[in-house]
Amino acid sequence: MSSPTFFPVTEDVAASAWVDEAKYKAMYEQSVKDPEGFWGEHGKRIDWFSPYTKVKNTSFEGDVSIRWFEDGTTNVSHNCVDRHLATRGDQTAIIWEGDNPAESAHITYRELHEKVCRLANVLKAQGVKKGDRVTIYLPMIPEAAYAMLACARVGAIHSIVFGGFSPDSLYDRIVDCESKLVITADEGLRGGRKVPLKANVDKALEKAPGVTSVIVVKRTGGDIAWKEGRDHWYHEETAKVAADNAPEVMGAEDPLFILYTSGSTGKPKGVLHTTGGYLVYAAMTHQYVFDYHDGDIYWCTADVGWVTGHSYIVYGPLANGATTLMFEGIPNYPSVSRFWEVIDKHKVNIFYTAPTAIRALMREGEGPVKKTSRASLRLLGSVGEPINPEAWLWYHGVVGDGRCPIVDTWWQTETGGILITPLPGAIGQKPGSATLPFFGVQPQVVDNEGTILEGATEGNLCIVDSWPGQMRTVFGDHERFIQTYFSTFKGKYFTGDGCRRDEDGYYWITGRVDDVINVSGHRLGTAEIESALVAHPKVAEAAVVGYPHDLKGQGIYAYVTLNAGEDPTEELRKELVTWVRKEIGPIATPDLIQWAPGLPKTRSGKIMRRILRKIAANEHEALGDTSTLADPNVVHDLVSSRMNRG
Ligand code: PRX
Repeated sequence: MSSPTFFPVTEDVAASAWVDEAKYKAMYEQSVKDPEGFWGEHGKRIDWFSPYTKVKNTSFEGDVSIRWFEDGTTNVSHNCVDRHLATRGDQTAIIWEGDNPAESAHITYRELHEKVCRLANVLKAQGVKKGDRVTIYLPMIPEAAYAMLACARVGAIHSIVFGGFSPDSLYDRIVDCESKLVITADEGLRGGRKVPLKANVDKALEKAPGVTSVIVVKRTGGDIAWKEGRDHWYHEETAKVAADNAPEVMGAEDPLFILYTSGSTGKPKGVLHTTGGYLVYAAMTHQYVFDYHDGDIYWCTADVGWVTGHSYIVYGPLANGATTLMFEGIPNYPSVSRFWEVIDKHKVNIFYTAPTAIRALMREGEGPVKKTSRASLRLLGSVGEPINPEAWLWYHGVVGDGRCPIVDTWWQTETGGILITPLPGAIGQKPGSATLPFFGVQPQVVDNEGTILEGATEGNLCIVDSWPGQMRTVFGDHERFIQTYFSTFKGKYFTGDGCRRDEDGYYWITGRVDDVINVSGHRLGTAEIESALVAHPKVAEAAVVGYPHDLKGQGIYAYVTLNAGEDPTEELRKELVTWVRKEIGPIATPDLIQWAPGLPKTRSGKIMRRILRKIAANEHEALGDTSTLADPNVVHDLVSSRMNRG
């Protein structure tokens, strides 16, 4: 019997959800016909110190300017913390589950308030002012949320760098946004292993004298180096200051955070998100997409180093007064039942994770899942990469016991929040499809020439009008913002993704159409990995492409040309792998390195990646047009050595 391909909304889900099908249709229609009216109303879901009178002022043309609620003032930390004190001060805001299953903590909104205020006062005492940048390099501990909210409170712009990035990557991100202060921990703890965070910061700061303070959270108590005058213990400094702090009055368009993300060219860019529109959008999507209701226990397994952690562990849930679970560990430690045990331990109702984790756990069979109850689960979510139907069906049938709708949420660092997704009470699901647009989102499919494609079709995914959570610029480089997102298809936001739209209007994201690859839901630019490889003294040239990988979605395939006289040994292959890990971080570890005496190039010297992708994917029969190659023999050689490797 073939697997079902459509999972309709069930009556009980529709009855209790915020929106059913009819309401979705009506709200969606209003949101695109009358965005001013729609967002003018929904913008009120957060507290404003002084209300906005203008709602939307956006243009995707010319200089590209995106402004929402621009004359309103507010503060994100007030909205995520203070405003809940009167009604839910004693409710748990954050459940923290440690790497070690014996360690967990519950932090109430009142406790959160005190922690955030104290750290805000420490930041001020260290000279941090509105508009200053603060880099956060922390493991998944509650202090990460305190740090974000403390920055928001004093008006500082945080830039979180994922703990898996190397000192060099951290250095680049610190220097690009000119941070003065870094918040880190002595060490992180993941899967029982220590991550040398403070040592990485020390290394990064050797070359970055602009950083004058480092605040260090004591997580493991491990040995670390200390620089007097620059380094300060978090616990000592927060004990010295007052437990209260008045939030800064922020304009709706004042920056909230920078988050670096990879593109098809150059170094990662600083995606800039601002205050009012971002928070309205993160909170609203959190409520509707996850059908969040008061009292629900909500768990997103992302790391706060990625945008998912920003919008759906911290800002969205806390703005809604939710209980959000923060997990320090990994899915397979101490056993592959860990996710399901945590769900039972904390009675999680809503669970949001990534396809790569689902695929890895699926490999372990049903046993480790079925020995847990998971009876508390009501809704499942997926994010970060296309979810293959087999993994979707396993997630639905085994993890959710066939009871829970799955929201496959498509979005990006740039979009601030979810753009295409089922709403559980309104939109039936097809495994592998992100389904339909959220309120206010107008997708459009265009061909490579920019012609709009109607009906059931396939092409490049663009969004034609702004939504409040959209990024506003690339930090320090507005021209790059315009070039990257609004110049390929004039007047439209180009997502970099390809998609198919079926006869029901459902969207199926097919993956990136540019030189960005998605490895285990982590986004990497092939250009970054190439420049790490060519920085090695023995490497002359490198070309990196993604190739299909069972667990990771995409793996990293590197073609490397060595300098004349260098021997392509197994030892050198290992050395290059280690080299890339050191330059960028473990997430960029090449899966396969193929020695390439030459790379396929056009006569004008451009590397033909299309061909390299096909060779890496073992699709040798479908190389396409090779007539523009300068030297067709190169392809021949690459194909035969690829085939020899199997
Ligand atoms: O290719 C899409 C893929 O992840 C890219 C965005 O990566 P990032 O900015 O790191 O943000 C990830 C978390 C929001 C997109 O361009 N992607 C994300 N979610 C999905 C997805 N692809 C298919 N289906 C999804 N649900």
